[in-house]
Amino acid sequence: MGYEDVFGAWSASPEQFWLDAAKDIAWMEPPKTAYEAGKGWFPDGKVNACHAALDAHVEAGHGGQVAIYYDSPVTGTKRQITYDALLADVSAFAAGLKKLGVGQGGRVLIYMPMVPEAVVAVLATARLGAVHSVVFGGFAARELAKRVDDFAPDLIVTATCGIEPGRKIPYMPLVDEALALSKHAPSRVIVKQRPEQDAVLQPDRDIDYEAIIAEGGSEPCCPCPSTDPLYVLYTSGTTGTPKGVVRDIGSYLVALKWSMTNIYSSQPGEAYWAASDIGWVVGHSYIVYGPLVNRSSTVLYEGKPVGTPDAGAMWRIINEYDVRVAFTAPTAIRAIKREDPKAELMAKYDLSRLRYLFLAGERADPDTVEWAANSLKVPVIDHWWQTELGWPALSAFPGMGDTTIHLGAAGRPVPGFAFDVLDEDGHSLPRGTNGAIVIKCPLPPGSMTGLWNAPGRFEEQYLSTYEGYYLTGDAGYLDEGGFVFVMGRTDDVMNVAGHRLSTGSIEEVIAAHPAVAECAVVGASDDLKGQVPVAFVVLKAGASPAVIETLEQELVASVRQEVGAVASFRRVYQTQILPKTRSGKILRKTIRSLIDGQSFDMPATIDNPDAITAVRDAISSHA
Ligand code: COA
Ligand code: AMP
Repeated sequence: MGYEDVFGAWSASPEQFWLDAAKDIAWMEPPKTAYEAGKGWFPDGKVNACHAALDAHVEAGHGGQVAIYYDSPVTGTKRQITYDALLADVSAFAAGLKKLGVGQGGRVLIYMPMVPEAVVAVLATARLGAVHSVVFGGFAARELAKRVDDFAPDLIVTATCGIEPGRKIPYMPLVDEALALSKHAPSRVIVKQRPEQDAVLQPDRDIDYEAIIAEGGSEPCCPCPSTDPLYVLYTSGTTGTPKGVVRDIGSYLVALKWSMTNIYSSQPGEAYWAASDIGWVVGHSYIVYGPLVNRSSTVLYEGKPVGTPDAGAMWRIINEYDVRVAFTAPTAIRAIKREDPKAELMAKYDLSRLRYLFLAGERADPDTVEWAANSLKVPVIDHWWQTELGWPALSAFPGMGDTTIHLGAAGRPVPGFAFDVLDEDGHSLPRGTNGAIVIKCPLPPGSMTGLWNAPGRFEEQYLSTYEGYYLTGDAGYLDEGGFVFVMGRTDDVMNVAGHRLSTGSIEEVIAAHPAVAECAVVGASDDLKGQVPVAFVVLKAGASPAVIETLEQELVASVRQEVGAVASFRRVYQTQILPKTRSGKILRKTIRSLIDGQSFDMPATIDNPDAITAVRDAISSHA
């Protein structure tokens, strides 16, 4: 069936459509009911994510197939881990977690680099029916502490270090500092000692990861209600407080399995590679659960698209592991193109078996898409989604034989997602007119079921602006052919190298500086990373020239120390005054236009038009 037919089948009978799709994953008790308002998808099904991702394939005789290709140019390591071997480690680790008191409904926070042990920790937690929350390894102690306090984990699983090109990031000092900052204290910290960095374990708190595996216990999969939470993944909103997106088990697996074949066209047994990090939603969905539920061989890559060692790294991986479908962020392609504009490094590898390259995480500029498509000679498919949704909502559909692409558009709606574009009063806008992008409720399987620790906030933040619709937070328009063009966020969330960051968390750090009276952080356009945060600060009266001199350096260091290097924060502008509305709200959109050199209409609500000149002066006087 082609895209239109499949979309039609879903619109005609959404519940039957998803009940049929549900047959493609291994349930412990298959669901009879598709959806129940207030309960969610597949309310009477029983399932275990680890069982569907590992045990079911081993039981069906595929234990010898490679589950994970671990490739780490930063440590010079490669490992192939079969489904049999992965299951043995996961089962042993689950047994160890259980002995430490983690049971069904328990909570495990995972703060790890891109190593196979991170996947083991994720799946072992799922095996027990417990909930995991993976925190991206690039976040510093303060961000980790916020997540520890909100998630209140029973224990933490970590490693002794992460490795970035040219430097090691010791994790234990970050964990220690986070636990000193947090009010919640997990009972134990399980530590994977990496050969690159030893750590002295605290005898009353820390446990060696390898000791647990060496015990070699085993633990069966816990049959869980399908609607139970599988994980909490924190994402950035406008404020400095991260939002814990909650995902259920069964509907998520159904959506992922459906997408692996129908969107990505990835067949069981083939290699599939999402070049992301397990700390982001792409990593959860398309490094771990999606490929494993599909019985693909997933690639776990601990390296960068450039510099480890060169801009041919992605092509080497695709060639070496016979990757048929790959997925990365446009920023990675921009970085490669910048270093290898003629794609000469690409020519060194046999990429003839690659079928598609998918891009997501930020707007894919047509130049980047065209460069990649012309060089790779395969369709390069932009697709759009969000942490909240869990899997793509706009795409092309090679799995249904449809690779129609409109450059600049993020694709057509995935069956399950009914899009509309609304004006401020909630009226549908005509095709081609820009407005708020929304999705009709109920959201399909795989989408968030709530916000952790915040009853009612999901409804308030996402469902209350337009009745009956989920607010994506993105603006854009629909064209006559049903393609959706996503033009950017309507809120103050930034997208830095495909990473979603909040202006609020950086502002919190800057505002804490004793010389700063007030500040505003905005995402400025950047050729490589899409956006980078920049700060505008107003100093307290009487700040000394010495402080003014070193302010930028100090603030850059503090943001690196407290949010993490991943914020890519480098620039501070000192201004006399910030543009605000009469009610005191900072006009960040106007500041963004000023820093990007774009024309803009003077906001009718502006309190102090002189602030525009002040901001312009601050920009032009910055060295
Ligand atoms: N742990 C610790 N530090 C990390 C980190 C991690 N897991 N990930 C990134 N950092 C650090 C980097 O070392 C860098 O530090 P520096 O300022 O000392 O150089 C900083 O955070 C910024 O990192 P990054 O955004 O990766 O930029 P980069 O300049 O090192 O590399 C790209 C640029 C384009 C190659 C890189 O951004 C990239 O690969 N992007 C793809 C993003 C992606 O896949 N996103 C997933 C969304 S689907
Ligand atoms: P995240 O939750 O980190 O996946 O970030 C989601 C946000 O990234 C979306 O709301 C968009 O603003 C942006 N985004 C993701 N994919 C795309 C895309 N293909 N085109 C444009 N923006 C995108």
